[in-house]
Amino acid sequence: MKTILTGIRPTGNLHIGHYFGAVKNWCKLQNDYNTFIEIADVQALTDNFNDPDKVRKNVREITIDLLSCGIKEDTTIFIQSMIHEIAELTVFYSNLVTISRLYRNPTIKTEIRQKQELFGNNGESVTYGFLGYPVSQAADITCFNGELIPVGEDQTPLIEQCREIVKKFNSIYGETLTMPEQLLTKTPRIKGLDGNEKMGKSLGNAIYLTDTTEDVTKKIMSAKTDTNKIKKDDPANPEVCMVYYYHKLLENKNIETVCNECKNGTRGCVACKKELIEKMEEFLTPIREKRKYYKENPEIVDNVLKEGTNKAKKQAEETMNKVKNSIKINYFE
Ligand code: TRP
Repeated sequence: MKTILTGIRPTGNLHIGHYFGAVKNWCKLQNDYNTFIEIADVQALTDNFNDPDKVRKNVREITIDLLSCGIKEDTTIFIQSMIHEIAELTVFYSNLVTISRLYRNPTIKTEIRQKQELFGNNGESVTYGFLGYPVSQAADITCFNGELIPVGEDQTPLIEQCREIVKKFNSIYGETLTMPEQLLTKTPRIKGLDGNEKMGKSLGNAIYLTDTTEDVTKKIMSAKTDTNKIKKDDPANPEVCMVYYYHKLLENKNIETVCNECKNGTRGCVACKKELIEKMEEFLTPIREKRKYYKENPEIVDNVLKEGTNKAKKQAEETMNKVKNSIKINYFE
């Protein structure tokens, strides 16, 4: 059975972009693969080192979100910081990556640009830890012999960086590490309510799994529609409408009717939004129920994390032994 490894930063609750872009796929994959899901708290700290409370709180919150979405309790969910081998591997891998290569990594480049927009262009925002997180992510992946990595397209440069490290390691020290491969989701990126290409917390355009009916109603009522449609019975173009986009995402069975009525002006936006709110509620209700159950039973959640981390630890020790033998950091053995 092949091994799947994926990770998520515990910096906030999951929104439907995470669900449809990634977690839904993980729920399917977990049945057919040896699946590891890492709660990447160490990686989260690279950007949130001054807010440790947030990271800590979200370890459990994210785990609850994952379980509520359908990740099974016996799937291996583990806490990155508890696997010291990852930090150790990172040190050894850091010799195999140049600083200029890290600066050229497109994901890092984009993130540096975003930091500069926030903090100014003086280079003060780029820490050693931040610049090195692709190396640490390579350790996340190889530590568990991850073969397939189901992540969105924003992660492609990080998988590429990991593959380069694996190649270099194996060519210098002999075949040791497993070469990973990205497994792209069909919908790798979900658009926001405002039509932005990305749904994100900082963009304020997301629907969260924790949102109440009231939140959902408010958000959908203000979602972006075809701005050329002024009156209720104006014909419109569903392809530029976020309400139509989410009808599709939620696999509304009446999708053709929604599309045709929109195009020929027999469907007003308010009615269309109300129908979407109903569908969104149908989707969220079972998740909310499971959330409530796990919120009331935190010991079950912590147990999932403990067992997952134990299993991950065993695999990490095995990899670490192999790596140390390959690089001859085994003086007394
Ligand atoms: N960088 C990923 C993200 O921001 C999270 C992550 C950490 C990850 N470690 C990983 C993803 C290992 C895949 C494999 O979403």
